Amino acid sequence: MTHWQKYHAAWSKLEAPLRPNADTLSKIRELIGDISGPVLLLGVTPELANSFDQVLGVDKNKAMIDHVWPGDTAAKKALHADWLDLEGPKNHFAAVVGDGSLNAVTTLREVRQLLQRVAALLAPRGRFACRLYERPEKPFTEDHLRQMGSRQATVNFHAFKWQIAMHLAEGGGASMPVVLIRERFNELFPDRDKLARDTGWSRDIIDMIDIYRGSPAIYTFPSRREFLDVLPEGISNVRFEPCGSYDLAECCPMLAFDKNQAAAI
Ligand SMILES: C[S@@+](CC[C@H](N)C(=O)[O-])C[C@H]1O[C@@H](n2cnc3c(N)ncnc32)[C@H](O)[C@@H]1O
Repeated sequence: MTHWQKYHAAWSKLEAPLRPNADTLSKIRELIGDISGPVLLLGVTPELANSFDQVLGVDKNKAMIDHVWPGDTAAKKALHADWLDLEGPKNHFAAVVGDGSLNAVTTLREVRQLLQRVAALLAPRGRFACRLYERPEKPFTEDHLRQMGSRQATVNFHAFKWQIAMHLAEGGGASMPVVLIRERFNELFPDRDKLARDTGWSRDIIDMIDIYRGSPAIYTFPSRREFLDVLPEGISNVRFEPCGSYDLAECCPMLAFDKNQAAAI
């Protein structure tokens, strides 16, 4: 069972960088600007569903739609589908938005395919904005992780989990099975009570890493160069913009671009 099928139960305990905060939301609205027309949301992130007037949220996990999506209305609907299977309607959406969505597919090849789909689904001059989890140029080393776990924490545990994931993704072609994040964490920090004492992270939050046990989900943590390599044809005004000052915000830029007026994709 993928952890997304049970993640909704832990939703209220998640915070930035795993969830969008007020800075992220206002940045996405700023990057999308004044649009009229339907917005495709890659996922069911409720804060993003609530940020636009006309929204189609697409998620392949029914439990996320049932428990996290704010509910269908005349102007907002959720569709149970895989983003990579979305064939149409082409040239239709005024905007496509997401929070960490490009990282939720399993390989760089799938990130490329997803962005090609996005470009095809956007209306001419339609806009894309999505928060990324971007592997830093200077990798998080094992030494850094061990040190982080041995003294009063300077970032929340979710940010630390992502540092472990980015450390592992460095050697794995950017792809990262979530089970490995937990396994590596257990190897580095076998005594969770000590970790809690040393860092100040609560056991409750530390134990949330167990949600990855047995999950077949794979995330992708590309570097800037890898993101640039998978951008689709027919787009312009590509921006990577920093956003916010929350924990690990330096690894969470916003990617935005516009579909060209004349792009026939
Ligand atoms: C958008 S991402 C990141 C979560 C985000 N930080 C948030 O606050 O919503 C998570 C969602 O993507 C969904 N997902 C992952 N891969 C997908 C795919 N290929 N097609 C559709 N949904 C997918 C998962 O089911 C999950 O609900």
